[in-house]
Amino acid sequence: MPVPLRLIAMAAAFAAVAAWGQASAGREIFLRRDLGNCIACHQVSDGAVPAVRADVGPRLDAARLKGWNRDRLRVLIEDPTRAHPETVMPPYGRHRLLESREIERVIDYLHALP
Ligand code: HEC
Repeated sequence: MPVPLRLIAMAAAFAAVAAWGQASAGREIFLRRDLGNCIACHQVSDGAVPAVRADVGPRLDAARLKGWNRDRLRVLIEDPTRAHPETVMPPYGRHRLLESREIERVIDYLHALP
């Protein structure tokens, strides 16, 4: 049955493109000074973003973050003071610095880090 197989392959390709698109939207939010500006404090293992010397927060480690599920990352980004009461990382959700769909795209990006 070649036709359904081809459809499945096309659907898989579309899903991969969609996932890549979401991660690259997340990268933009991560970088933009008027959005996440995460790069002000974090270095990342993504060769596609500018190398920075920021070290206020830990270097974001792809292997470590892949071990965090979406809920754990969402809780951290929405309100990092829940885990680290004294942190300087902004509470992006609680202070409405990012919309929840923007936080979802940042999570896609963190999970897609090389
Ligand atoms: C003003 C500096 C600052 C900014 C901006 C910032 N962070 Fe952080 N971040 C920190 C610090 C500091 C920590 C470590 C927690 C602590 O002990 O305070 C941290 C921790 C983290 C961690 C946990 C890393 C680990 O390995 O434990 C993640 C993930 C993270 N930040 C993601 C982000 C994302 C995504 C953004 C942008 C939406 C962001 N941070 C913006 C300072 C910052």
